[in-house]
Amino acid sequence: MELADINTITVLGAGNMGHGIAEVAALAGYDVNLRDINEEFVQNGYDQIEWSVGKLAEKDQISESDADAALDRVTTYVDLADSVSEADVVIEAVPEKMDIKKDVYTELEAAAPDHTVFATNTSSLSITELANVTDRPEQFCGMHFFNPPVRMQLVEVISGAETSAETMDLVSDLAEAMGKTPVRVHKDSPGFIVNRILVPLMNEAAWIVESGDATVEEVDSTTKYGIGIPMGSFELADQVGIDVGYHVLQYMHEVLGDAYEPCPLLEEKVEAGNLGKKTGRGFYDYEDGDGAQVP
Ligand code: 3HC
Repeated sequence: MELADINTITVLGAGNMGHGIAEVAALAGYDVNLRDINEEFVQNGYDQIEWSVGKLAEKDQISESDADAALDRVTTYVDLADSVSEADVVIEAVPEKMDIKKDVYTELEAAAPDHTVFATNTSSLSITELANVTDRPEQFCGMHFFNPPVRMQLVEVISGAETSAETMDLVSDLAEAMGKTPVRVHKDSPGFIVNRILVPLMNEAAWIVESGDATVEEVDSTTKYGIGIPMGSFELADQVGIDVGYHVLQYMHEVLGDAYEPCPLLEEKVEAGNLGKKTGRGFYDYEDGDGAQVP
């Protein structure tokens, strides 16, 4: 398949990353099928796209008519088979758990047309292991966007052990057609490149606070203003979802060893359901708006 043959993109999972990826694809002119496991989740994803394109139009980053046209290109689904029946590419962004993703790929393999390329937005899990659930590991790769997808330029395009050169070319071209800058990652290792660097940064920040050596505000002041990262480590954890970072760490700890042991502070937040911006509270409180406030 060539880039020009791609018309319909299905995004599985309408959470933070899924709805953001669907938005980027719709803004690039693709027909997008957005699917989640129930009406509430998928409607929430659609509402977030509506909010986001509205914001972009409000700031004259796109026109009102482009915002409306992008929204019109998004169709919501709950039934997985219906959502992929005409898909040229499926981008999967379901929760970062190997078992959940494998179940989705088993169902997807049975339902998708033979030509459909599968791209996973996994943050860390093995592309090869996921690809081997399907009968098309050569048509399978990682396509890792960053949060928020509509604002972040980078996409890691990751090869599994059996990914073909054609699939890597196609998905890299697709990322470019979606206005992004693809970087090819030839080795399928836990966390790939960005998360192998960024998630330990969030973890180390949590260990510093856990040990009582500094406060959340002190750590964020240094990372944000001192070393030039656009968000403080804790602001970033709240942005990506503390649960997402925690699951990435658990996997890196399991595969790569003790250096990646998740800090208990992260686990406490996950268990309390304080996952960051998406739940209104994480390391900061967002109940009164979307700016970070000191807890
Ligand atoms: N769509 C539209 N508007 C949005 C938006 C979205 N998705 N998200 C935020 N905005 C709006 C806000 O509502 C705010 O609007 P307002 O001005 O009307 O209040 C505005 O954007 C804020 O934008 P600014 O340009 O003022 O803010 P910044 O210049 O600080 O940019 C940022 C925001 C691009 C998010 C920047 O802070 C940044 O780059 N942060 C780092 C993000 C990052 O590193 N992400 C990667 C995380 S790792 C990851 O995702 C991998 C995963 O696998 C774990």
